Amino acid sequence: MHTSMVECFPLFIPQQFHSNYLILFSFFSMASSYCLQWLLLAQALLIVAASSDSCHFPAIFNFGDSNSDTGGLSAAFGATPPPYGESFFGEPVGRYSDGRLLIDFIASSLGLPFLSAYLNSVGTNFSHGLFKDQLPKEEYFSQALYTIDIGQNDLTESYFRNWTTKEVKSAIPDILDKFVLAIQSIYWEGGRYFWIHNTGPFGCLPYVLDRLTLKAPEVDHFGCGAPFNEVAQLFNRKLNQTLSRLRKDLPLGVFTYVDIYSIKRELLSHAHQHGFELPLVACCGHGGKYNYNINIGCGSTVTRNGKEVMVGKSCQNPSKRIIWDGVHYTDAANKWIFQQIVDGKFSDPQVPLRLACKAKI
Ligand SMILES: *[C@@H]1O[C@H](CO)[C@@H](O)[C@H](O)[C@H]1NC(C)=O
Ligand SMILES: *[C@@H]1O[C@H](CO)[C@@H](O)[C@H](O)[C@H]1NC(C)=O
Ligand SMILES: *[C@@H]1O[C@H](CO)[C@@H](O)[C@H](O)[C@H]1NC(C)=O
Repeated sequence: MHTSMVECFPLFIPQQFHSNYLILFSFFSMASSYCLQWLLLAQALLIVAASSDSCHFPAIFNFGDSNSDTGGLSAAFGATPPPYGESFFGEPVGRYSDGRLLIDFIASSLGLPFLSAYLNSVGTNFSHGLFKDQLPKEEYFSQALYTIDIGQNDLTESYFRNWTTKEVKSAIPDILDKFVLAIQSIYWEGGRYFWIHNTGPFGCLPYVLDRLTLKAPEVDHFGCGAPFNEVAQLFNRKLNQTLSRLRKDLPLGVFTYVDIYSIKRELLSHAHQHGFELPLVACCGHGGKYNYNINIGCGSTVTRNGKEVMVGKSCQNPSKRIIWDGVHYTDAANKWIFQQIVDGKFSDPQVPLRLACKAKI
């Protein structure tokens, strides 16, 4: 349901906000090159940024997977069912979480309006060209913040195809080559400000731990799959090196590398210290060691005596939990993660989000 898509769906979210609109494009799987073509075709965007003494990002373009998707997956594959969205929005809003995603916290902290996500009809509007008249000025494109969140889907999908760790490692250069092509294309279209999240410790996620078998010595003392996290870290080292090269090759670009891995690893490893519990167990799901069952996902229902009964239920207190549905993080965890990244202490270079147009190495 969530991680196996490799296609790319553009996401358009017009939202009345004073006299302007917010349009955010969400893409998943950087690996598919036509995502980029979509972006380049769809030079629409814009947003109303709050006045600020720092950077003025009139828009965010997000490239990510379902961790930062605000509705593309839902629009394409049917809405997320309840209890998705329950903690913050009170109803499913196309996000793979009980509430806000990291990208939501980023957008609101930049003074951008909340991203709504009932999109099924919005794509239609675009395909009928209704936005043509409203195409934003060239400069929005160059002033936008490009947020990029990559790695997890490409790496876990390779494992689910039964690739060995060695094979998965050998695919990293290809994934990064596509990343470079995407960045270069955005740059040549005028994009300058890149905010890049490295990949998280996916070896701690229920959907990985449940689906992939590990030998005892491969499980670390927090219960995570060590080989998977080593692959994530290798990917991140190479991503960091790739960025060093891009800074040289694209001298007008401003690249901020955000070490999401270390933040998530800290949260999962010292959950109690940070006010959370059961770090490796999904809040919403249907039983098993990790409360994760690939066939009975969060929000699943069965019919009993003619009545629909929810079997993929939420836990009592999602605000105490880190993992929402076995794949994605909770609103509470995303908020905590956002608080770590906003001031730049996990970034390279160490600049706050609101100055991400000024970072220079
Ligand atoms: C699509 O466009 C029509 C006509 O401009 C508008 O009435 C409708 O609200 C739009 N739908 C969305 C979801 O924005
Ligand atoms: C991976 O291996 C498992 C166990 O041998 C098998 O059931 C599954 O179908 C394989 N998956 C793929 C995508 O080949
Ligand atoms: C990324 O590489 C730079 C050197 O280019 C290094 O100083 C920095 O610590 C690295 N960041 C991370 C998170 O590994």
